[in-house]
Amino acid sequence: MMVSGKQINSRTPSTMMNQPKFSAKQILLTLSALITLTLSYANGFATLATDMDRPQRCQLERIYKMAGYNCANLNLKEIPQSLKSNLQIFDLSYNRIRDLNRQSFARYTDIKYLYLFENMIQNIEEGTFSDLTTLEAIDLSHNALKSIPLELFRLPILRNLYVASNALHDLERDLELLEKPIKAPLQVLSLADCWLTRLPNFGILPDLWQLNISSNPMTELDIDHFSPMCHLRSLDTNNTQIPICACQSITTELTARRVTLINIHPHCKPLFATEQNICTQGSTTTPIAPSSEYDQCMEVRKSRKLDTEAKTAWLKISLGVLGCILVFSLVLYCFHKRNAKTMENNNKFSKSPPPPINRLGGEASIVENGKREKLINDCD
Ligand SMILES: *[C@@H]1O[C@H](CO)[C@@H](O)[C@H](O)[C@H]1NC(C)=O
Ligand SMILES: *[C@@H]1O[C@H](CO)[C@@H](O)[C@H](O)[C@H]1NC(C)=O
Repeated sequence: MMVSGKQINSRTPSTMMNQPKFSAKQILLTLSALITLTLSYANGFATLATDMDRPQRCQLERIYKMAGYNCANLNLKEIPQSLKSNLQIFDLSYNRIRDLNRQSFARYTDIKYLYLFENMIQNIEEGTFSDLTTLEAIDLSHNALKSIPLELFRLPILRNLYVASNALHDLERDLELLEKPIKAPLQVLSLADCWLTRLPNFGILPDLWQLNISSNPMTELDIDHFSPMCHLRSLDTNNTQIPICACQSITTELTARRVTLINIHPHCKPLFATEQNICTQGSTTTPIAPSSEYDQCMEVRKSRKLDTEAKTAWLKISLGVLGCILVFSLVLYCFHKRNAKTMENNNKFSKSPPPPINRLGGEASIVENGKREKLINDCD
């Protein structure tokens, strides 16, 4: 699922609950709009009505208990620098931003979701994103980028990366400098409509499950390009122009890996025996062996699984030990208390014997014995 700013904003429950408050606000807004309108007419300016309709400042919104600023569609050319610095959702989509630099987000280091789609971003200075270590998703779709800033691949918890509709002509050249394996645990990647002729090499991507390569002229795409993505579950191949034989071997292999293929071209379906024969004759039937990158990717997933299993086992053991210690100390405490009581009773008894207290003490000790036995049984 693509999570875009618009979707999050429209789903926000807080805006729905604030409905009555909004009407009062709207009256105020209309009033102020009217006053500005009359003032501007008095000054000889004709302000456009469409500009008056929408708020001209970033709106603070609470979305899923997070502080978010909605700055979409405000004709911004730069990143606003006067907002609360602890914002977690930052929607800057549909603006006119061209350049980003180190200062752009220096104040906002808590950002988790950053929406920059539908701008005119061309240049991103090195270090613009490198301090955003809490960033989980970034949408840079529909801009004028030629590559993806490599520092994004070093962010420790970046999971969703959308760079669709940028002509990424320099990406392949830049990726040669990428440190592999990458640090970002990418799960969702959209490279749709990026002018790519084959899949770029990001190194192993053990967490990636959704990939969108639609609307790219993928004439050089090969099944080997998918080896670093051993956990892929969904692939959109709409409008990709993959040559027929490559396409067939890709679909056959990926279907075997339980990948759901979306918008697959009819001639790629490995159902037509005649077409498959044409392909196998051409390429001297080379069976597809899993490559070393696929094995590496699987290895990472396996070792992680073992890690978590070991951790849960240790947690269980320590909890068990802790529980036993607790029960044991409780038993000791009960013993101590009972001993103190009987000693006290004995002292009293030696002076003047009151039989009912003795009986009570005996009953209490029986009850306590029962409790102790129960506790010991629990411990086993
Ligand atoms: C892939 O990207 C295109 C263009 O952005 C979009 O229309 C399509 O819905 C995406 N596919 C999936 C499965 O999200
Ligand atoms: C596939 O891509 C074409 C061209 O971009 C587009 O018109 C069409 O709507 C897409 N189909 C689907 C199912 O996304």
